[in-house]
Amino acid sequence: MSMIDKKQISERAAEVLRENDRGTYTVPTKGLYPFQWNWDSCLTALGLAQIDERRAWQEIETLFEHQWDDGMVPHIVFHQHDDGYFPGPDVWETNRPVPTSGITQPAVAGFAVKRLFDRARDVKLAREKASALLPKITKWHQWFYENRDPAKTGLVAIIHPWESGRDNSIDWDDAFERVPTEGVQAYQRRDLSHANPDHRPTQEQYDRYIWLVQKFRSLQWDNSKLHDASPFQVVDPGFNGILIRDCQETAELAEALGEDEVAALNRQWVANGLAALDTLWSEKYQQFVCYDRAAAKLVDSASIGGLLAVFANVSEAQAKTIADRINDLAGRAKFLVPSHDPIDPRFDGKRYWRGPAWLIVNYMIADGLIRADQTETANRIVSSSLDLILESGFAEYYDPIDGEPCGGSRFTWTAAMVLEFLREL
Ligand code: GLC
Repeated sequence: MSMIDKKQISERAAEVLRENDRGTYTVPTKGLYPFQWNWDSCLTALGLAQIDERRAWQEIETLFEHQWDDGMVPHIVFHQHDDGYFPGPDVWETNRPVPTSGITQPAVAGFAVKRLFDRARDVKLAREKASALLPKITKWHQWFYENRDPAKTGLVAIIHPWESGRDNSIDWDDAFERVPTEGVQAYQRRDLSHANPDHRPTQEQYDRYIWLVQKFRSLQWDNSKLHDASPFQVVDPGFNGILIRDCQETAELAEALGEDEVAALNRQWVANGLAALDTLWSEKYQQFVCYDRAAAKLVDSASIGGLLAVFANVSEAQAKTIADRINDLAGRAKFLVPSHDPIDPRFDGKRYWRGPAWLIVNYMIADGLIRADQTETANRIVSSSLDLILESGFAEYYDPIDGEPCGGSRFTWTAAMVLEFLREL
């Protein structure tokens, strides 16, 4: 890529971030997602830091101002009223001063904070901000292992597909069959007026999403009860890989700040998690797969969740096999990395998490591969990501076969990841 292209793309990415900035937090994109989302904000902070360091810290601070007393950090903070989104605060009913959803999302806050800290131009500010966030992030990790791994297996389960961040992945199909649809109150979806219905989850999936919300609401969002009460409990290697990496980065940050006890606590979760992650390795697919905890069986689905686990310190052999798998996928998809293998008849190149490529996932996979010395495959992912931007703009996600931009447009975390990719080049 030429210097001119690089400069032009950076400027366009910064413009997307500015457009979606609401002062103390950033919306993923206007219209479709008009509030603050958890992992969107943490990854967005990386892009923001290149423009305004103080604003980047604030993005994460704002999110943690809405952490629950039990330690959970919610997946959405409804900072302001907006009828254009469903399900809103009246459906979640979490009874908070500023309404939030009642479930969580992948934990990338520790990773983002460590990265901001390491790259800080204002070192004094970074120490102050990181020190204040460190106990909050650790409390969130603790919340995960206490509430989502009650049997102490080392791995946490998600209890709603939205927690994974990969809302309608093929990974959830079988487990989702056990979630009823009876008794779901009448509702009107809002996403379909902002995006092409063919690119979005189906109506039946939405009924099940809402059934789970109603179920947890009926238990007053008491996290000590929700895991066991949920008919949907899935251990996702991607979600756990991210959490393990988050604990690792938090441990390193704690050491840099002289907080040895906090470091030791986080290191223990890393050790337990990595050991348990091995049980999700699939010989058949040569990657990790999900485990359906409620049905006690591995899930027969080779999705990107099983590749994303490379974000954690998996073994050298596993990282190499995952790199091979991605190179193999490149033979079936022009653009990397498809969120599901196109060889699977369930693959759908335009429907959200059932096939499309997403730049945030590309970023985390590439980062993991670089750490494992799989640089060539990582570079391939980065150039594919930039090709998508040049051809199709800053979309929410892309068809990996023809590169069509899908979902929402002018998307915040896509822009943030582009700034990250360009920074590395
Ligand atoms: C969708 C994605 C989720 C993301 C949110 C906001 O729900 O699946 O990962 O956080 O949109 O961008």
